[in-house]
Amino acid sequence: MKTLLERVTSIGVPRHVALIMDGNGRWARARGLPRTAGHEAGARAAERLVRFVGRRLGVAYITLFAFSAENWGRPKAEVDFLLALLDRFIAEHLGEFVDSGIRLRVIGDVSTLPVAMQRTVANAVETTACGTNLNVTIALSYGGRQDITHACRRILADVAQGRLTPDDVSAEAIARRLDTAGTPDPDLVIRTSGERRFSNFLLWQSAYAELYFTDVLWPDFSPADLVMAIDDFQKRERRFGAVAEVAE
Ligand code: FPP
Repeated sequence: MKTLLERVTSIGVPRHVALIMDGNGRWARARGLPRTAGHEAGARAAERLVRFVGRRLGVAYITLFAFSAENWGRPKAEVDFLLALLDRFIAEHLGEFVDSGIRLRVIGDVSTLPVAMQRTVANAVETTACGTNLNVTIALSYGGRQDITHACRRILADVAQGRLTPDDVSAEAIARRLDTAGTPDPDLVIRTSGERRFSNFLLWQSAYAELYFTDVLWPDFSPADLVMAIDDFQKRERRFGAVAEVAE
């Protein structure tokens, strides 16, 4: 009998899986630990998942919602801890990313990050640019509305400079000006910890994504949980607004 992993990979996995990693704080609280311990465990879960996806799964793109535009509203100590953790995560895994053919991208308002972290990010994006095995996008200081707003500004600038006319403004023209330009839309968006909202993540890009919610808290989210999410995804019928079959 085939294992779930064998079955899932034999059918055709989603090309792009995006993850809203939620529940680090609750994971820590349940263990009587500080929230920071939850984020550290969350980073280990992300590491486990990236390794698994790169080696075993055949998914071509994953996007991790690591720090939202709204996360700046958390207590300064937590913000500082999270940014330092993410900076370290990128710096420490750079060699592994290169060795495993992982191409790293970052979306979000990178200019709001600490300058040293901006350097880490720019260096990692450049150093991994030739990776062809797996595309990992980390969303940092990212908000979907902000992404769309920036795309509108770029469109207006192009119109003002005569590079575009109002009639040229199409969904494709907007998509090409989003932070995610060049990355296919997510096929599957997973949110952990029992919450069922987008929280300003990939709003434009998720128009036709399948959504999967699990009660598992992010630090506990394992490769097996991802395989279950993909199994669920494969049972769905994606019609993109059309009908399944046209009756004669
Ligand atoms: C949600 O937990 C998670 C975040 C705020 C994002 C940070 C994610 C990580 C550190 C995971 C590692 C990711 C990478 C790319 C290394 P929460 O604090 O909102 O949890 P709560 O809702 O239980 O309080």
